[in-house]
Amino acid sequence: MPVMNTYAPHESGEAIEDKVESLLDEMTLEEKVGQLNQLNGSEHTGPAVSEVDKEAEIRAGNVGSILNVDGYEKRKHFQRLAVEESELGIPLLFGYDVVHGYRTLSPIPLGEAASWDPVAVEEMSAVAAAETSAAGIHWTFGPPVDLTRDARWGRAMETSGEDPHLGSELAAARVRGFQGDDLGADDTVLACAKHFAAYGEVKAGREYNTVDISESTLRDLHLPPFKAAVDAGVGTVMNAFTDHDRVPAGASDHLVRDILKDEWGFEGFVVSDWNSFRELIYHRVAEDEREAAQLALEAGSDMDMVGHVFVNELVELVEDGVVDEAMVDDAVRRILRAKFLLDLFDDPYRYFDDQRRDSTILADDHRETAREIARKSIVMLKNDDDVLPLTDPDTVAVVGALADSGDDVLGDWRAQGNPDDAVTVLEGIETATNAGTNVEYTKGYERSGEAPEPLREQAVEVTADADVAVVAVGETWELSGECSSRANIDLPGEQRELLEALRETDTPVVAVLTNGRPLAIPWLDENVPAILETWFLGTEAGHAIADVLFGEHNPSGKLPMSFPQTVGQVPINYNHLPTGRPAEKAEPGWGTSYIDVPNDPLYTFGHGLSYTTFEYSDLDLSAAAFEMDEQIQVSVTVENVGDTAGAEVVQLYTRDLVGSRTRPVKELTGFRRVELEPNERREVTFEIASDDLAFWTADEEVAAEPGEFEVMVGRSADDIRSSASFELLD
Ligand code: NOJ
Repeated sequence: MPVMNTYAPHESGEAIEDKVESLLDEMTLEEKVGQLNQLNGSEHTGPAVSEVDKEAEIRAGNVGSILNVDGYEKRKHFQRLAVEESELGIPLLFGYDVVHGYRTLSPIPLGEAASWDPVAVEEMSAVAAAETSAAGIHWTFGPPVDLTRDARWGRAMETSGEDPHLGSELAAARVRGFQGDDLGADDTVLACAKHFAAYGEVKAGREYNTVDISESTLRDLHLPPFKAAVDAGVGTVMNAFTDHDRVPAGASDHLVRDILKDEWGFEGFVVSDWNSFRELIYHRVAEDEREAAQLALEAGSDMDMVGHVFVNELVELVEDGVVDEAMVDDAVRRILRAKFLLDLFDDPYRYFDDQRRDSTILADDHRETAREIARKSIVMLKNDDDVLPLTDPDTVAVVGALADSGDDVLGDWRAQGNPDDAVTVLEGIETATNAGTNVEYTKGYERSGEAPEPLREQAVEVTADADVAVVAVGETWELSGECSSRANIDLPGEQRELLEALRETDTPVVAVLTNGRPLAIPWLDENVPAILETWFLGTEAGHAIADVLFGEHNPSGKLPMSFPQTVGQVPINYNHLPTGRPAEKAEPGWGTSYIDVPNDPLYTFGHGLSYTTFEYSDLDLSAAAFEMDEQIQVSVTVENVGDTAGAEVVQLYTRDLVGSRTRPVKELTGFRRVELEPNERREVTFEIASDDLAFWTADEEVAAEPGEFEVMVGRSADDIRSSASFELLD
């Protein structure tokens, strides 16, 4: 069986399968089960779990993988124990959460998604893979490919936002970046698409809460990025903590066995999330560890992260005839296959090269790549009166505790990211300004968000004397990430009070927002002339922000997730379904609406301003109708009519006018990032095939249905510049 062999050109899939089979033949049942067991090293990325004597377990052949091992030497030591002191000498797999970089950090995934630039995202994932592998780690628990429409959820920061098409493009890019085209190369790592599936739908945005969605929502929104990752050859997939249709993901044969393994033909392995097999007991679908192990294996999950239920229970379950040994064999095969693809049997120490480690981690060119994607990830939400870019101000007031924090720009899931390496907003501004510009820093508020009177007064004084105030506001890094759901998504603490005080001066204010989720900031929008959304931009944050503030880089980022006016609108997404009483069509008072807030978000998916102006013209379709097995070309001309070079993300949306199930009012179907000099115009062409129009139909299959479609091209989901229609023929 040729398996993922495009990722191991050094050896054919058949040769690897032969090796897997002959090793499997030599293994005892205990040794097989050992391969399915993943221990934790020292750092805890979940609640405490029972400790075991790791060295003894490795020597006994009871361990297939370890995550979170603290340090290169320790990893090397554990590898030596496995290879030289266990009976079969099977190398260990070392796993770690490298989500947006190892030591050189790029923006958090939601930030990277705002670049709408799969090439840049792939490059940055390749940088992360180079550093991770140089540290002796084989496997990253990334990319997260969850989709969410709920800004309350702390893990929105790990997603690519609310759209399955953008999410799928970026999922594939990240897998390619991590795994390269040869997993056996020294600078690539095994990737892991997580969390399978629909974790982003936790009810009320509350972390680890239950999920209750239709099969349509699962298939149309949440599965496409996973499918894209699988098609890109991702080696592993991680179960979600959550349930689908009342069955926890790790025990869901519908999700794991039916969809992932059978329908999609996934040949890698599935790892649980932290202790999530044991949590089947707390979900109340398993009575005890034994039943939990049985349910998880039968559902098709292959490796147990820190839960010990496989290693404790599977041997007996097989011996008692409850579980078929063939299922254990299948899981072992998948794990051994990954180890062969990584070429670990030929040289288990291949990732331990001191010289490579020293020259790779935090290399200058890695920082440059991080700066480039950080610039591209910044979204200019507002720029009244062309406050930005700043041109030769005499005095810039830099306000806010967040402006002076290397810790915060790194965001959550920072792996080995170090605040001391990070460029703060203040440092970035100081470096970018020349000797003629006076930069005055004032704290304004405490990191907790509190703005005591003296700090506020001092900030007002400094601002009053400046030509412009750059005010860093938003979340500290701990406010988003795992276990950081928020029921209020306003500016934290008294940041707004500070901004109100600064507004009393005549000095224009530029708000630099730091956050891992959309915030509800209508007041900011109404009262501050310029707003830059900077997420958590990683190691090079300060330089990237200064590049945009001073016009060294023309902002081109676009929102991957809509910003609500108020938390009460959440979940909110541009690609919502029509109702029987559409707001815009119904008799006043009888349409879908609130009585106290509008339906529209504050900033819609796809929104982002530029220092130049783009015009769209000449939308053209290659045909008015096409057959299921044909494609249609949609082209549009985009022109930069301003006097600054810039990049535009041209967005193509479609609408299926009538379907066997309700179809979204608009769906992103393609996008293209184009760089244009002043007065340059470019024709951008998209190809649409019937697959691009597919959805979970009433016949319970993913397919396109014939009929009329609207096609729209624009700058964001609510700034459509041109539209036309076509017919998909039977
Ligand atoms: C729990 C998180 O949900 C998951 O994303 C992560 O990979 C594991 N812990 C390991 O740290």
